[in-house]
Amino acid sequence: MTIAEALNWAIPHLQESCDRPQFEAELLLAHHLGRDRLYLYTHENETVSDIQPFQTLVARREAHEPYEYITGSVSFYDIELQITPGVLIPRPETELLIDRAAGLIEEHNIAKLVEIGVGSGAISIVLARKFPQLKITATDISDEALRLARQNIERFGLSDRITLLKSHLMDEVKTDAEMVISNPPYIADGFVLDKNVGQYEPHTALFGGEKGDELLKQIIDETDRKEIRWLVCEMGYDQKAAIQEYLKAFGVEYVDFYQDLAGFDRGFVVEFEKWRNDYEKKL
Ligand SMILES: C[S@@+](CC[C@H](N)C(=O)[O-])C[C@H]1O[C@@H](n2cnc3c(N)ncnc32)[C@H](O)[C@@H]1O
Repeated sequence: MTIAEALNWAIPHLQESCDRPQFEAELLLAHHLGRDRLYLYTHENETVSDIQPFQTLVARREAHEPYEYITGSVSFYDIELQITPGVLIPRPETELLIDRAAGLIEEHNIAKLVEIGVGSGAISIVLARKFPQLKITATDISDEALRLARQNIERFGLSDRITLLKSHLMDEVKTDAEMVISNPPYIADGFVLDKNVGQYEPHTALFGGEKGDELLKQIIDETDRKEIRWLVCEMGYDQKAAIQEYLKAFGVEYVDFYQDLAGFDRGFVVEFEKWRNDYEKKL
């Protein structure tokens, strides 16, 4: 079978499970051949000698397994990360969270940050690469996530600037910080997810409690209790009203909800007032 024939065989198999069957067939074949996608276009008539393992990859994708788990790699922001089953695949919308945090880190020259729920390391690695002054403490409750984050952090040579801790939220964080960033689990328990997500991605990374916003609220409590000035968080598209209401119990200097490109609420930035009062008293 040639490269062109292998793609023509794979595409109909991926029609039901994929939004972009041709693109994903190309990704899987390029991965199988150890080449990039461009190679496929320039070598259409080359024979794929060992076709069986490629057909197995296509069968896995046909059964809705995300292609990132099949290829072991994911593109995120400006980097390529390793990814393994058991750890959430970083999503494009989380790039908006990073941009929000990056604006504040730059404006306020922030040097110490905590990430809650590090997963693959995506957020911490991108921010550490952007800001050489930044020291990050990143937590997770999942051993698989911490193992993978460690590998990714080492690959980017950032082990001296990102410290990993196994911890529920910030329980084990003993250092001070100026900002907390988090993309926590925020989906309501029992919400029925697409097969490729619900059957393959870790539920501890997705479900945030009965209503979904329970961990988000705990993160607000913890950030306030630890007197950390900034909190930048991703949330579900329908959680703005609940978070707005919850924040009324706190002294908040500033809160801003941001939207994704489709106009859905996606996250929020909070500046806690207490910190500002303490700071001004010290001046
Ligand atoms: C939605 S994933 C985000 C992963 C990564 N930061 C990203 O954006 O791709 C949430 C992460 O939070 C972790 N997590 C869940 N509950 C936690 C808790 N109570 N404390 C710390 N981390 C938690 C999960 O294991 C998972 O890795």
